Amino acid sequence: MKEKASGAILHLYYGVWEEENVITRTASLTNAGKEPIYIEKFLSCSMDMMDRDLDLISFTGRHAMERTAERIPVQHAKVEIGSTRGTSSHHYNPAVILCEEGADETHGSCIGACLVYSGNFVAAAQKDQKNQTRFQMGIHPTNFCFHLEKGEAFDTPQAILSYSGTGLTKLSQQYHEIIREHICRGAYKHAKRPILINNWEATYFDFNEEKILKIAEQAQKLGIEMLVLDDGWFGKREDDNSGLGDWFVNEKKMNGSMAQLAEKIHRMGMKFGLWFEPEMISEDSDLYRAHPDWAFAIPGRVPNHSRNQLVLDFANPEVVDHIYEQIAAVLRQGDINYVKWDMNRSLCDIYSDSMVWQGNVMYDYMLGVYDLLERLTQAFPDMLWEGCSGGGGRFDMGMLYYTPQIWCSDNTDAVDRIRIQYGTSFAYPLSTMGAHVSAVPNHQTGRVTDMNTRGVVAMTGAFGYELDLGKLSEEDKTAVREQIKTYHEAASVILKGDYYRLSNPFEAEYGAWMSVDEEKKHAVVGAVLLNTHGNHPVFYIRLRGLAPERSYRDKKTGTVYSGAALMELGMPFTVVSGNYPSYQILLDAVE
Ligand code: DGJ
Repeated sequence: MKEKASGAILHLYYGVWEEENVITRTASLTNAGKEPIYIEKFLSCSMDMMDRDLDLISFTGRHAMERTAERIPVQHAKVEIGSTRGTSSHHYNPAVILCEEGADETHGSCIGACLVYSGNFVAAAQKDQKNQTRFQMGIHPTNFCFHLEKGEAFDTPQAILSYSGTGLTKLSQQYHEIIREHICRGAYKHAKRPILINNWEATYFDFNEEKILKIAEQAQKLGIEMLVLDDGWFGKREDDNSGLGDWFVNEKKMNGSMAQLAEKIHRMGMKFGLWFEPEMISEDSDLYRAHPDWAFAIPGRVPNHSRNQLVLDFANPEVVDHIYEQIAAVLRQGDINYVKWDMNRSLCDIYSDSMVWQGNVMYDYMLGVYDLLERLTQAFPDMLWEGCSGGGGRFDMGMLYYTPQIWCSDNTDAVDRIRIQYGTSFAYPLSTMGAHVSAVPNHQTGRVTDMNTRGVVAMTGAFGYELDLGKLSEEDKTAVREQIKTYHEAASVILKGDYYRLSNPFEAEYGAWMSVDEEKKHAVVGAVLLNTHGNHPVFYIRLRGLAPERSYRDKKTGTVYSGAALMELGMPFTVVSGNYPSYQILLDAVE
């Protein structure tokens, strides 16, 4: 399309993924006129749906309680969700569903819309005067006024749209497929992820080389495959008041170089990973002392602090280059196999010292982040990358393009995690959800759940541990060994199989889910009873996705069930007393 007055040319692009039932949309505006153009709002898709009453499902939340599904009818008053925090955010997720009234997991037509973008976004729905629903999604117009010089073009991020005529499960499975096959890239796109131990909840900032090596030794004995050293190994960083931006090893604390530590871990037969927070800067850091102008701040005003830190101006390529050099130098030092890319505050005081026109900054910041990710993923192609933003505050397809897994939430409580992972699963596959077994009482909620329950829940994702293994009882250590064995057996079904939500854990007395492999030969079922009562009757959960004509053997008990019976009548669960009893059943088709 061409606008005569300005000379602007608009191209609309549609991608068709027939098998996955997906249409992608993006638009590109070229300034073919004589004057600059200022784009104040430019969305990725706008759709009009005739004559239908639709519900909008969005995924709202907060730090440590991300992505709770909220369903409301679309009416004439406009409903709008989004983020202006500079990240896709904990508050809302750039994944929404429009479905007909009454649509559920197995029935009804549903349309999904997800944005491949990690910054500010908006999604809005409204009925017009003739009751048609208009849905729009794209970059949020707040803090956006893009200056386009003559001859330049602006491309919107892609919106990934998908349709299911048979309910929400199918829609989710289509998204899982498109993400696993066409969004995630790199060495770990399909590869099994190493079972990791992360030291964060075990030590927080209080560690040294000795403590870390002890955790690694204990982990190795239990069969854990990788040690991840979290926040606090660099610069001056004994708490969250200082050090961000100084990406060089604190050799005093770590008793030597990173290469030495990596080598010691590797000698134990384990992989080794490191935490970074590349986009941030502490005022108490060498980087800030050298370049105070590299932090976002409105001239003449004191910038807002959050977690005692400021945000680096990633709209400035010089800043991105510097951080690249620092991080790459650490990664080159030793054999490092994994990076956790954290981001722990929202953006505000948006002002780049390097730019005259400020309306591009928010967007250019995001491109700076992607540029750094692109360069690092190219330079270290064998690395496993995990995204993170105060847990799951930047869980989106933009990040998944670079990091095939993302730390799902800072909340590691098994019961809350069932709900967080449930909400996350509507758009994102299990392979993308970092999930760890942690200590009890849980550090975020104070709740006590047993080791089996924590294991069953954490195994519904990219599995790991995050606790002081030295404090485990012998009984718990045996349970951990057993979990690791099970995960090795079941990981490929869990991470690559078709996923089914078997309950809504916000409403049902139990959380339940399952994954089934493509040939319907293997299935893994997980369930946790959320509410126990006296003399609790046996409860039945109807399984899904099996072959009705086949029989399946429960690997643990040897009991054989008919696929049809498991799906029509359900799998029986006998309630044992205790807090949040859990069940994990591996089913194999009987040949
Ligand atoms: C927030 C992350 O979500 C945590 O897992 C941990 O890495 C801390 N940041 C470290 O500061």
